[in-house]
Amino acid sequence: MNLWPTRQTGVMTATVLISRATPKTIDAVGVPVATTGTVPRSLGLNRAALAAAGFEGKAGQTLVVPNGNGATQIAVGIGEPGALTVQALRNAAAALVRAAGKRATVATNLADLEGTEAAKAAQAVVEGALLAAYRYGGIKKEPNKSTLQQLVLVVGDKRAAGARTGSERGQVTAGAAYLARDLANTPPAYMTARHIAEKAVAVAHSNGLGVEVFNRDQLAAMGCGGMLGVNAGSTEPPRMVRLTYTPRKPVGHLALVGKGVMFDSGGLSLKPSDGMLTMKMDMSGAAAVLATMGTLKALKCKAKVTAYLMCTDNMSGGAAFKLGDVLTFRNGKTAEIHNTDAEGRLVLADGLSLAVEDSPDAIVDIATLTGACMVALGTKLAGVIGNDQPFVDKVRAASAATDENIWQLPLEKGYRKLLDSNVADMRNIGGPHGGAITAALFLSEFVGEVPWAHLDIAGPMAVDGDDGWLSKGATGFGTRLLIELATTFTK
Ligand code: BES
Ligand code: MN
Ligand code: ZN
Repeated sequence: MNLWPTRQTGVMTATVLISRATPKTIDAVGVPVATTGTVPRSLGLNRAALAAAGFEGKAGQTLVVPNGNGATQIAVGIGEPGALTVQALRNAAAALVRAAGKRATVATNLADLEGTEAAKAAQAVVEGALLAAYRYGGIKKEPNKSTLQQLVLVVGDKRAAGARTGSERGQVTAGAAYLARDLANTPPAYMTARHIAEKAVAVAHSNGLGVEVFNRDQLAAMGCGGMLGVNAGSTEPPRMVRLTYTPRKPVGHLALVGKGVMFDSGGLSLKPSDGMLTMKMDMSGAAAVLATMGTLKALKCKAKVTAYLMCTDNMSGGAAFKLGDVLTFRNGKTAEIHNTDAEGRLVLADGLSLAVEDSPDAIVDIATLTGACMVALGTKLAGVIGNDQPFVDKVRAASAATDENIWQLPLEKGYRKLLDSNVADMRNIGGPHGGAITAALFLSEFVGEVPWAHLDIAGPMAVDGDDGWLSKGATGFGTRLLIELATTFTK
């Protein structure tokens, strides 16, 4: 699978090997140490010496132990013995790679510990290590580079087969997150709607997906007034991309809709300069959806998955859509524009309408939708709001498995009147409070009776600095969650 054949700007993916023993020539070895119990002798330090250096074995702690000319030993805390989780393993692997610094080859037996299933353990270790190793290359004479070149999972014979399966899956899921991060980190002039559509075609062709790209005229003919309204102020044309993954005997049909606002200036309701800098990442939802689609064949997903990427920027100017304008969406409903910065819901309205026409069993949309959600939940949690609790619970289970954390907010119908308009079926903003919920209520007008969950990823879309398996910049949030959801989905 080749997810990023052309535009990769310096990100380097390490190779991952499974080995029965620690290779002789390795730069660093990660040695798991729990908070109690024996300390592996290979570390060369006993518990008292570790404690004296401030290392207690707590999850995420590391201690670098230089070892003459041999491999650097790195103690990696895994917490209480007997309470090992895949999340702890993912975090431990990330901490190991960060502690390894410039050392290019790293071996560890983290995936060989008792207490977790071999495949799940190896997947988590590979994900943690590769995600922590991610660097956005940047547009630089000397691109930023990831230093990790090789990760060796040291695993005994009993767990080798499982570890191999999990490692392969981890490389696919981490690779997808790399793609989503790359797309969102890329400067807006390098990542327009046309660029992401081109990328989507490439991903589709190399990963067995159907792909259709719709231009401005086609969107107009289809009645996608949300897309046209938001795009009106831009000299860059919009693109809507429809991707399809169709297995032989589908066990269900899932639809994904991603907000692809390639740059959100706010439009005539212009954002203040400070709030605009990160708005090249306002296409993070579409990026996560595209990256997810690219993995489905490799992961032998059994559900049919249809995806819509709703891509345009939101600009001001003489042709821009105005406050008071009324837009008519694909499903015939209309909205009076009270704020051109509430544009995500306008492009999603068309995408959700189209998704419903495919009669899927469930729909997920993913969008950097509201500052209000970020105020409510902070930057470590996305919001989830839906119209069907069993389906929302499936999304929450996928979140729990991937450690891409979400928190449910209610689809409070009592707030629907805040969207009432004299001129149109609704207005595009609610009142000053509950903005994440009123945005979801707006979206709910376009999903009909289909079970639906909305992920508001405004908060976790980016991090200011390296943090565990998150690397500075775009996080690719939602990619692994959606992969997990799609590959476990049944009707
Ligand atoms: N893309 C923004 C939301 C956003 C803000 C994402 C910060 C990531 C970080 C969205 O289009 C927006 O501008 N929302 C407005 C809605 C408001 C006008 C009702 C907001 O949240 O301020
Ligand atoms: Mn906006
Ligand atoms: Zn936006």
